[in-house]
Parts: sequence; structure tokens; C-alpha cells
Amino acid sequence: MNLEDLRTERKKWMTWKNIAPLREALETLAEIECEVELSDRVKIIADLDERRIYETARLLMPWRKGPFEIGATFIDSEWQSQVKYNLLRPHFDLKDKRVADIGCNNGYYLFRMQEDKPKSLVGFDPSPLYKTQFDFINHFVKSEIVYELLGVEHLEFYEEKFDVIFCLGVLYHRSDPVAMLKSLHKGLDKGGEVILDTFYIEGDDETCLCPESSYSKIPNVYFVPTIKALKNWCSRAGFHDFEVLETSLTQPHEQRKTEWIEGQSLEDFLDPNDNSKTVEGYPAPARVYVKLRKDKR
Ligand SMILES: C[S@@+](CC[C@H](N)C(=O)[O-])C[C@H]1O[C@@H](n2cnc3c(N)ncnc32)[C@H](O)[C@@H]1O
Repeated sequence: MNLEDLRTERKKWMTWKNIAPLREALETLAEIECEVELSDRVKIIADLDERRIYETARLLMPWRKGPFEIGATFIDSEWQSQVKYNLLRPHFDLKDKRVADIGCNNGYYLFRMQEDKPKSLVGFDPSPLYKTQFDFINHFVKSEIVYELLGVEHLEFYEEKFDVIFCLGVLYHRSDPVAMLKSLHKGLDKGGEVILDTFYIEGDDETCLCPESSYSKIPNVYFVPTIKALKNWCSRAGFHDFEVLETSLTQPHEQRKTEWIEGQSLEDFLDPNDNSKTVEGYPAPARVYVKLRKDKR
């Protein structure tokens, strides 16, 4: 596969009629020196045209991942992404590593990962809106993060291999999860690691839930495995080293409706009479976080 042709093709996505006005808003932002603080909020401190910043951020809605603070504008995203980041933080060290984040959305985790001083940071996400949110934040941060408008399916053709690949919240969106895990395996250098999370169901069987048409009102969720079934998928993809890092139930403090998204959030996705179930009657969303290692030889 020729990735250069694909990049050229996808660059045209930025001219779509819903994206082009957002790109124009970004092009006219003033160049400015900023101080950047990488804590739970990715924070920009500078002498800004506050009204302009607020209006541009509003144009780029919905903000699923964050939070970000740019001068007086606090982007209170739907997801409190620091909850996942802080949960995973003790389990990785990215110093001098080549790192990829697959399904990186607007790059919230990538911005935070800069604190480890990795050798390189590359984000993959085929969404022109999320890439535009990334470009907006990066206008101030001025990082060297590379954002590719590519998907996990392109990873094996990428020009470099990675030491650490994050793939968070993507697996359940794939109709062929073993193929996705094989792509991650091919994208890694020998001895490399994947940090992955996915929805899972409780149980000692090697089975998975196949939602009829939606799961927690998300239409494109295909398979929700038990941890044993997930382990088998990983083994089929070539990962013989499978370590469970954490499990967690999604809580309303982590995902909730804010003024930075339209529509609904977690509280609307659960059964109002029984929060242990989704509106469809399936077990409420729970995540398992795993580390997978590629053999050294
Ligand atoms: C549920 S979000 C997860 C975001 C983030 N990784 C996290 O865990 O908070 C799924 C992300 O995958 C992206 N995505 C969609 N198709 C993809 C693909 N083929 N390859 C990689 N990412 C994809 C979406 O644009 C979205 O940003």
C-alpha cells in the first residue's frame, strides 16, 4: 500500500464543507509565545485574544476528549480523559521510545506523553474533525507530534516500527478484532509493547457478547469479550505475553454531558432503573486494560 498516495487523498478531506470553515478559522489564529502545563488539564498560558479562542473552540465541537484550558477558555470535554491516563500512568515509561497512539482522537494522551521525553510520538486517527482539534491545540503547544489521518489498518504499512503502541477504546469498534490485533503486532518492533483497553464482560468462559444493533447506544460496537476470550484473540494475533493491568466500570464522573458536546452521554446510555445495565439490557460498560508484548526474536 502506498501511504503517500493515501495521505494526499486524505488531505482533501480538509476541504469538506463541514471542515473547511474550521480550517479557515485556524489559519487566521495569531502566532503567539505560550507556556504549556501538562497536568490533568493540558493548559496554555499566554496573552490571548480570549473571545477569538473561545469562539474557535466552540466551532470545533463536539469535544469528546480532554480537558484543555486555553487562557480563559476551559474545554470541559465529555470524557475526563485524565482518569484513563492516570490509571495507565504507572504502567509505562516512554523515555527515548518510538510511540504510537492508535485512535488518538484530538491527541490529549499524546500531549501528556511528552512529559516522558519519548523519541517520537505519532497519532493515528482517520477523523478530520479530531485532527483539526489537534491542530488547534498544537497551534499553542507547538509540539513535534505527528498526526496521521490513517487508521489501525494502515499501521503495518507505516514507514517505521514502534516500541510502544497505545490502542485505547478502538478494539470494540472493529468488526474483525483479531485482524486489528495482528495489525498492532505487525506495527511493533521486536520486544515492543501494546497498551490496549476494551469493553469486556464478566465470566470464566471463552465467549463474547455480540450486540444486536448497539451497545450503550453506540451503534458500531461489534464484540465485547470475556477476559479469557480477549486473551485468546491476542494469542491468535501472535501475542503470547498477556498481562491484565486494571479493570474499571465507567462512572458518571468520567463520562458526562457538558456544554462542549451536543446530545447525550453516559446517564442516557444506562437503564434508568438499574445502572448495572445498558438501555439495551446488556451489562453496563466495563473496561479491561492490558499490556501485550511482542517476542524479542
Ligand atoms: C472511542 S474513541 C477512543 C479515543 C481514545 N483512544 C480514548 O481511549 O479515549 C475511538 C477513536 O478511534 C478513532 N477511529 C475510528 N476509526 C479508526 C480506525 N480505523 N483506526 C484507528 N482509529 C479509528 C475515532 O475517530 C475515535 O477517535
